Amino acid sequence: MAKVANKDFFLKQKIHSKIKLDLFGKTLACALAIAGTQANRNSSESSFHYLDLFAGEGQYVEGDTGSPFIAIEKCINQISNPVNNLNRFRLIFVEKDRDSIQTLQRNITNQYKNSLNENIAIEFIGNEWEDVINDLRNKMSSSEWGFVFADPFSTELNIRSFESAFNSVSELKDYMILFNFQAIKRIMGSSRANYKIIEDCCGIKVEDLDKDENRITQIQESIKRRLHFKKFQIGVAITSSRREELLVSDYFYLVLATSSLGVIDGFLKAYENVINDTRQSLIQRPLPFSPNESNILDTKIIEILKDNPKKITYEELSAELFNTFISWGKSVRLPGYIIPSSKNINKALSRLAIGQKIDIFAPAHLRNRREPNRLKIVKSNHAAREIYIQYRG
Ligand SMILES: C[S@@+](CC[C@H](N)C(=O)[O-])C[C@H]1O[C@@H](n2cnc3c(N)ncnc32)[C@H](O)[C@@H]1O
Repeated sequence: MAKVANKDFFLKQKIHSKIKLDLFGKTLACALAIAGTQANRNSSESSFHYLDLFAGEGQYVEGDTGSPFIAIEKCINQISNPVNNLNRFRLIFVEKDRDSIQTLQRNITNQYKNSLNENIAIEFIGNEWEDVINDLRNKMSSSEWGFVFADPFSTELNIRSFESAFNSVSELKDYMILFNFQAIKRIMGSSRANYKIIEDCCGIKVEDLDKDENRITQIQESIKRRLHFKKFQIGVAITSSRREELLVSDYFYLVLATSSLGVIDGFLKAYENVINDTRQSLIQRPLPFSPNESNILDTKIIEILKDNPKKITYEELSAELFNTFISWGKSVRLPGYIIPSSKNINKALSRLAIGQKIDIFAPAHLRNRREPNRLKIVKSNHAAREIYIQYRG
């Protein structure tokens, strides 16, 4: 059964999969670049582990590249990055399907035999990842930096296993997981006998969901709770496609858990670019497109500040903004629905400060020299902890 699914899946890449992989690749590149800047070249720990739990075949029959190829490319690029203090990259590909892991191995050998050097070590594990959790945990713990990608077809990831595998692995690892929300909604509307799938995949019993609240929001919150071991968790919806056309739907949910504002920013910038491209094509097509709405990010910031009578740091404000689910449908249709990237938060804060709705307390080196109400773009967690914001009323 799985064999047939794999064969079909790896024939031709769907356009929504390209979007997912674009977001994945740009976020991984950003994580590598940040690690490359911060790592200590002289330390034996200056290595980066990439772990792909659902690796697939690396390349689709029609030529498109999958996550393993993209990860290898990003590591090769990082080596030639002018700022790179990482001296070793280890990539671990886990794939349970016997034919697919062999195809992956063959594809990688064919494509990269001349371009891989001794700094990049690749390991193939032909198993279900849950069967090798201890081994994976040990490997991931052996370097300071890393990235774990989980890209199942549908609801195969057990979030509790994921939590127990990685919650004790060091601070500087990032995690990206794809959830199929359409499948989750379908199962919720089906017989109770299937509810165990949701419990495994999302970490909450359907029976425990509050019927009066939005059940999908509760499921998103449950997923984020399972990823509590990272400071920030952010989830964006990705649409699906039919006959090579993108739909306007919140079909998939891509979650990033990280302790780095910089990694979140790389992810959100990539998402904003995809949304802008899609929005352009929607404007040209007669699809429901709502005219300008007032700026939703400004409104959200005010709501958060009103709930916090004391001043809060930029970092705390960001974490709260990331808690809001980012809908694909709303992002492409409502121009006022702004993604909370550092640039957009910066613009919103300066509009609110100029409108005398908020006060910003920041050291001079983080303020724009010519415009005192405007901050510099916040690039690090450290800077985000030096800035305080308060509602003025
Ligand atoms: C959606 S595909 C991955 C696609 C890949 N990320 C890419 O970009 O091409 C999911 C893969 O996970 C594999 N898989 C499913 N359950 C697994 C498990 N428990 N452990 C390891 N691999 C698994 C499937 O055989 C399939 O090849």
